[in-house]
Parts: sequence; structure tokens; C-alpha cells
Amino acid sequence: MNELLKKELIQLCKKEGKSSLIPALQMVQRDLGYLSKESIQFVAETLNMPVSEIYGVATFYNQFRLNPVGKHVIKVCRGTACHVKGSGQLLSLIENELGLKVGETTRDKIFSLEAVACLGACSIAPVIMIDDKFFGHLAAEDIPKVLNQYR
Ligand code: FES
Repeated sequence: MNELLKKELIQLCKKEGKSSLIPALQMVQRDLGYLSKESIQFVAETLNMPVSEIYGVATFYNQFRLNPVGKHVIKVCRGTACHVKGSGQLLSLIENELGLKVGETTRDKIFSLEAVACLGACSIAPVIMIDDKFFGHLAAEDIPKVLNQYR
């Protein structure tokens, strides 16, 4: 954690007290990409809360990550519309193509894979998202081509 992030966290926590916990964790994740042990410890000390309580909140909300992610984050939608249109098969293909499971990062740290609820783009189901770009109406044969754009 850099000094600027620490300073911003202290300001936020002083201003909002314990209700700043989630915004503080969001701030850390925006900056670091995940919640490091050091950052959780720092937030706990700043808010005068037990570390276990911070972990409890961080693991309850699936927006938070406790491990560093790869350069590109792939989100496979597992919502109903995408499920009906074969997102399970797409997920398996991506896992096989990259040699990883949901929640993991490739050894070269290029890709992380997540399965998420509706991405809000049901009309183009099945959908995956890589970083902030949507790929819709995907067929199995599209997967290698899509992934190759990021390799
Ligand atoms: S169910 Fe996949 S985008 Fe809505």
C-alpha cells in the first residue's frame, strides 16, 4: 500500500467512522486490485475493528477479492438467460483453454476467471466480459478467437 492510499483511507475512516468500512475496502480494491492482508490490517487498525470482522465483510460480498488478479479479468455470466443459451459450456471451454478454474489466475498472471450473476446484457446472451468489454451471442467456436485478442 502506498502512502497516498493510506492517507485517503485515514481521511475516509475519520470522516465516516465504521460506516466507511465498505467504501474503504472498495477504495483499496480499486487501487490494488484486491484486498491484501496488509490493507485489511490497516483498515482494521484505522477503524479500530477486529481483523476477523473485516474478513467477515470482505468474504460476505463477492465484489471483494482476497487474492491478486491477472492482467485481464474474464467474467462469465451464469444468469438465467445466459445459462439457457449455454454459458455453462462456454465456462468449461474457457477453463480448458486456459487451464484454470473459476476463482483462479493463470500462472503467467494474464487471466483471472470469475463466474458472475447477470451482467445486465441478457439480450445478447450468452455473454462474457473481459475487463470492461462485453462479448455477446457467443458460440463455443468464438472462445479461442476472443481469448487470443488478450494473449
Ligand atoms: S443473464 Fe447473462 S447477461 Fe443477463
